[in-house]
Amino acid sequence: MQIKVFLNEDEMPRQWYNLAADLPTPLPPPLGPDGKPVNPEMLAPVFPMNLIEQEVSQERWIDIPEEVLQLLYRWRPSPLHRAYALEKYLGTPAKIYFKNESVSPPGSHKPNTAVPQAWYNKQFGTKKLTTETGAGQWGSALSFAGALVGLEVKVYMVRISFDQKPFRKIMMETWGGKCVPSPSPYTEAGRKILEEMPDTPGSLGIAISEAIEEAVSDPSGKTKYALGSVLNHVMLHQTIIGLETKKQLEKIGENKVDVVIGCAGGGSNFAGLSFPFMYDKINGADIDIIPVEPASCPTMTRAPYKYDFGDVAKMTPMLPMHTLGHGFIPPPIHAGGLRYHGMAPLVSGAIKDGLATPRALHQLECYEAAVTFARTEGIIVAPETSHAVAAAIQEAKKAKEEGKEKVILFNLSGHGLMDLSGYEKYFAGELHDYALPEEELEKYQQEIADLPSVESVK
Ligand SMILES: Cc1ncc(COP(=O)(O)O)c(C=O)c1O
Repeated sequence: MQIKVFLNEDEMPRQWYNLAADLPTPLPPPLGPDGKPVNPEMLAPVFPMNLIEQEVSQERWIDIPEEVLQLLYRWRPSPLHRAYALEKYLGTPAKIYFKNESVSPPGSHKPNTAVPQAWYNKQFGTKKLTTETGAGQWGSALSFAGALVGLEVKVYMVRISFDQKPFRKIMMETWGGKCVPSPSPYTEAGRKILEEMPDTPGSLGIAISEAIEEAVSDPSGKTKYALGSVLNHVMLHQTIIGLETKKQLEKIGENKVDVVIGCAGGGSNFAGLSFPFMYDKINGADIDIIPVEPASCPTMTRAPYKYDFGDVAKMTPMLPMHTLGHGFIPPPIHAGGLRYHGMAPLVSGAIKDGLATPRALHQLECYEAAVTFARTEGIIVAPETSHAVAAAIQEAKKAKEEGKEKVILFNLSGHGLMDLSGYEKYFAGELHDYALPEEELEKYQQEIADLPSVESVK
């Protein structure tokens, strides 16, 4: 019985996979405020040019620099597990595998892109990185990466998570990062929101505005902004997850995967695991690929695919994506990293092209699944990850009903050891399911009604 499959450092993939090269419908371009496509130079105040080049690249395979590989070796390759105990508990004929991204020092998949982003910035001459964080995983990951390459890091953490997860701030500080709650009094965008809504729980859209504002207002130009999800180069760096997984499955002679699952906030851990399998799907493989979101923040399942800004203050270009509207203030569910109004353009494009079929789940089912997982496999997963666990359990039960020996693979994007207050509330019966009411959805859609449709740009 082999429970874990390992790779040696020298077996780790040497290139990232870029889905943009293979997406059947090419991605529409990002647009500036004038509605015209932005060119790479326009992104230069925010990102270093070496990452902008990756952002717009159409190359299928992109080399991972040797120095980045050396840094990734601190925790990669990550193990692939077979969830025998969960299978037995469910009595399913399905085989359930999960890729364990919780083994990184900050506890999630986020360092897979934090480390290369910090490294490329360092090469470019950047001195300081600013960013937002929802649940605190990304802020921790960037602080960790800043420590490895020698960069200052400033994190704007969504207020509600800042209050719910105080230990995340201490982790960031331990790695040398600075963490403030958002909205904050330190930026124009933050002050404006605080004036209008002093008690707001905050949102990723607000925190992004604050972080970008700080970066672009540094007159030295040595402060840049780093985004933990959504953008093409972030999806690219995360593909190390799926590429390693394919090698691990090959190693144990598992030649066919039927279902691939990841939770999706901005889309990066889902993309990381699934894009290398989408490559197979584009080339004829029969695989169900499922991104899972909370029913309270139903970006992929209920919101339209159109152009929208990535942040509240409209500092980002407009991106083609599924969007609830940049003004959307999500309900305070515990999966902080899944409370984003938009979705990665590459993931949105993959859904549009029929390569992925999204699913929305309620939080009580997800917590129940997470507790089952903890009591069988032993790992306490992050509230975000619980959405992937719940969908994997649904699929395993379906396989049981159908009597099929399916191979189900999901991404264990992070552990939940810093998120225990959510579990505490679940056990106390204080958590409730919440489907976004139609009126709320329409209200935020009204605010973006005038933004361009994807069709109008082609
Ligand atoms: C553990 C974990 N999983 C998933 C996510 C969602 O982000 P993404 O969709 O970019 O993977 C987050 C975001 O904070 C996270 O911390």
